[in-house]
Amino acid sequence: MLERSHLAENAINCLHDEQYDLPFNLQNLNHRNMLFIGGRQRESLNGDWNFAVDLLDTGLRQRWYQMQPTPAEQRTEPWDYDPYVGETIPVPSCWQMQKKEWYFFEGSAWYTRAWEYQPNSADERVFLRIGAAQYDCKVFINGEFIGNHYGGSTPLFAEFTGKLRIGRNWIMCCVNNSRTLDRVPMRNTDWFNYGGIYRDIEIVRTPGALIRDLHLYLVPNRQYNQIHIDVETEGEVDSDHPQVVVSIAELNLRCTIMLTAGKGSIEINAEPELWSPERPKLYTVVAEFAQDRVTDRVGFRQIEVNGTEILLNGTSIFLRGISVHEDDVALGKVVTMDDLKRRFHHAKQLNCNYLRFAHYTHHEWATQLADELGLLIWAEIPVYWAIDFQNPATYRDAENQLIEMIKRDRNRASVIIWSVGNENADTDARLGFMAELVNTARRYDPCRLVSAACLVNHAQNRIEDRLAEHLDLIGINEYYGWYEENFDDLLALGENSNPSKPVVISETGADGFIGEGAPTSGLFSESYMSEVYRKQIDYLAKMDYIKGISPWILYEFRVERRQNVFQRGWNRKGLIANDKVTKKQAFHLLAEFYAKLKSRSSYHE
Ligand code: GCU
Repeated sequence: MLERSHLAENAINCLHDEQYDLPFNLQNLNHRNMLFIGGRQRESLNGDWNFAVDLLDTGLRQRWYQMQPTPAEQRTEPWDYDPYVGETIPVPSCWQMQKKEWYFFEGSAWYTRAWEYQPNSADERVFLRIGAAQYDCKVFINGEFIGNHYGGSTPLFAEFTGKLRIGRNWIMCCVNNSRTLDRVPMRNTDWFNYGGIYRDIEIVRTPGALIRDLHLYLVPNRQYNQIHIDVETEGEVDSDHPQVVVSIAELNLRCTIMLTAGKGSIEINAEPELWSPERPKLYTVVAEFAQDRVTDRVGFRQIEVNGTEILLNGTSIFLRGISVHEDDVALGKVVTMDDLKRRFHHAKQLNCNYLRFAHYTHHEWATQLADELGLLIWAEIPVYWAIDFQNPATYRDAENQLIEMIKRDRNRASVIIWSVGNENADTDARLGFMAELVNTARRYDPCRLVSAACLVNHAQNRIEDRLAEHLDLIGINEYYGWYEENFDDLLALGENSNPSKPVVISETGADGFIGEGAPTSGLFSESYMSEVYRKQIDYLAKMDYIKGISPWILYEFRVERRQNVFQRGWNRKGLIANDKVTKKQAFHLLAEFYAKLKSRSSYHE
């Protein structure tokens, strides 16, 4: 009889245990263990990983992660998956784009690979960083469960310190992209539910005493002459007066921040050249703590609202924008630097100074590149449509994703708006949930505007979302000419509303299909889409409290819930088709409108 391993008794018991997943849902990989990584050495683990889809969570039930590496022919038990051999998948990727059979797969999938470890120093700390994994990512090292992360578009960190062997270790991730009512987003979205580890996966090592976070901003007092710096550290240093030294050589600035319980802040006088779309000036910042050293490239600017005006460095601006998803016909939700450069090139061709990164946190390269190129960004968490607003666990998930987004990007000058959601019905539960998110955003970042994409009250034809009073800036999704038939209501909306703060049109647009069998007139025709843009542009120009527009959307994008004869799984509102090359007439109409705005000092002349 073959010798059985310690797992054998589990093979039968696990068939009767429907609570099997509870021990693996700690959500302990969250914003609290994020690590500042600017300027750090990073060891890429991108490449081929062993892979298996696992629809019924057999891997968790049978504890595949505890199996030891053994040649298949020496296995002593008939396990249903061997983490150490099998087919492979490239990381980063979305499994839907790898095989036809996986296109609509929703569930768990296992990633496994070996990693050779040699310590660089006795006290080093070792972290696994994943740029994003959709949606729930459970991390195991050498058969030990470290924890899991909820949220499909913010980074996660799992610490391996003290759990590594010299030489070969095994890293395993179980990623589950199931859609459920209590997740953020929940089970119904108008974008494709990709799955997998779709951004970089890497090892980051630090000294024993490390800088956990570094946050700099221009004190938002309209003086433009003080920089606020917050630092957070961890680990003992042999000094009675632990401190962090921050320097910005180009400003001839070097300051010492004294620490109490690992944290410290300082405000220093400085007169940096201000960051703006026209002059996106960035400064190299260096922070040193004991043996640790991190850097960042930071722009200093002030964004604020004054009445119905949006002010950048004290000057009124109009946000000439476009909305974008992360989506690609070949790569799914994987973003490459070339893809980003093309996105921003098309935005510049549209004469944009602004983009709405819908409906979730985009790749960190996107906000870094926007910093360099001088584009203003609306960043957003996927509190989208009918979120389970009554559920405290759902709130914790949404709040964690918001804090992760803010902590990752709050040194990015390009990001001017944190959006706490999109198109949620105005109920008491939703108001409480999102007003709390607004407070959290302000607590973690005192120098950006907080907004949300709200719905218009069509019965009253006015802007009266109760969340608006909590926001600095009101986003409105309006589709007059498409979902809402009567265009004159758009003008009446302006007369009926007269809000006391700036409003941006966070979405407007229409589908226009230009592929094989495209209609020549009527709904879904390119000509109808162009007519909607002509009228939107004409009407919005008359609504003087509108201070920005980000039409929906730059590129056509994949979505399961659109299957009519013109859509076939794609949302066709893109100004450019899903080849990311072919422009529709409406692209040129918007570019022309924005060119006129760009040449005029103010939008409503
Ligand atoms: C909504 C929603 C978008 C969606 C768009 C559409 O406003 O916010 O996510 O894709 O409308 O219907 O095309």
